[in-house]
Amino acid sequence: MTETVMAWDTYAGQRPERKRVNSRGETTWFNWTQYEDHGPGVELLHLAPRARVLDLGCGKGGNAAHLAAVGMRAVGVDVSPKQLAAARARWGEPAGLELHQADAVGFLAGDREGFDAVYSVYGAVWFTDPARLLPAVRKQLRPGGRLVFSQRPAVEGCYGCQASYIPRGVDEDPLVVKRWDYESAAWERMLVEHGFGDARARVLAAPAGRRRVGTLIVSARA
Ligand SMILES: C[S@@+](CC[C@H](N)C(=O)[O-])C[C@H]1O[C@@H](n2cnc3c(N)ncnc32)[C@H](O)[C@@H]1O
Repeated sequence: MTETVMAWDTYAGQRPERKRVNSRGETTWFNWTQYEDHGPGVELLHLAPRARVLDLGCGKGGNAAHLAAVGMRAVGVDVSPKQLAAARARWGEPAGLELHQADAVGFLAGDREGFDAVYSVYGAVWFTDPARLLPAVRKQLRPGGRLVFSQRPAVEGCYGCQASYIPRGVDEDPLVVKRWDYESAAWERMLVEHGFGDARARVLAAPAGRRRVGTLIVSARA
């Protein structure tokens, strides 16, 4: 097992399950943010019926399961066997949902069909060097297809590759994964440099309450 897989398997055991039902009484839904029942939904992906859509770093699969429930062909990819086991336990294998254990860039390189949209919610796009990830996505996106991803906004002055720590027991060192943080303008510039159009990156404010950190949502078109 690589250190990355070990780190994400450890993380899997620390995260609570998505709620059974949201505030609208729905059993599946799409959420780009770290807050429940907050922010835009699947409309950001501009999907036609039966679109083939890739989730990079799908985790426990809630967003991909929602896409399958609304008639899309959702493909979820994650490096963590524990995240995927939780996804299978929760959602089963309904028509329209495929789950794969793989690294995001490796999976993109091996796909032969292409995608109508690629997205990532605090997922593999955040945890992969964009110099490797963006060309791999661009190659597999069909003309007009969207890449949309969300993550925590960069802390002012902390740009490029950063360390994220995944805690373990009190006597153990935390595990480390790398993530890539940039300001909105830098994301837009990089997307254009890698051949995307309509690049747009904005920070969505947190909902009313005590928490202040918003969500960076980035989108672009092939
Ligand atoms: C913070 S979690 C988010 C999971 C999910 N998207 C969600 O919204 O709950 C990040 C996920 O990305 C996965 N991941 C990280 N790096 C990856 C990579 N290079 N390829 C595939 N999956 C990756 C991790 O295993 C983890 O499940």
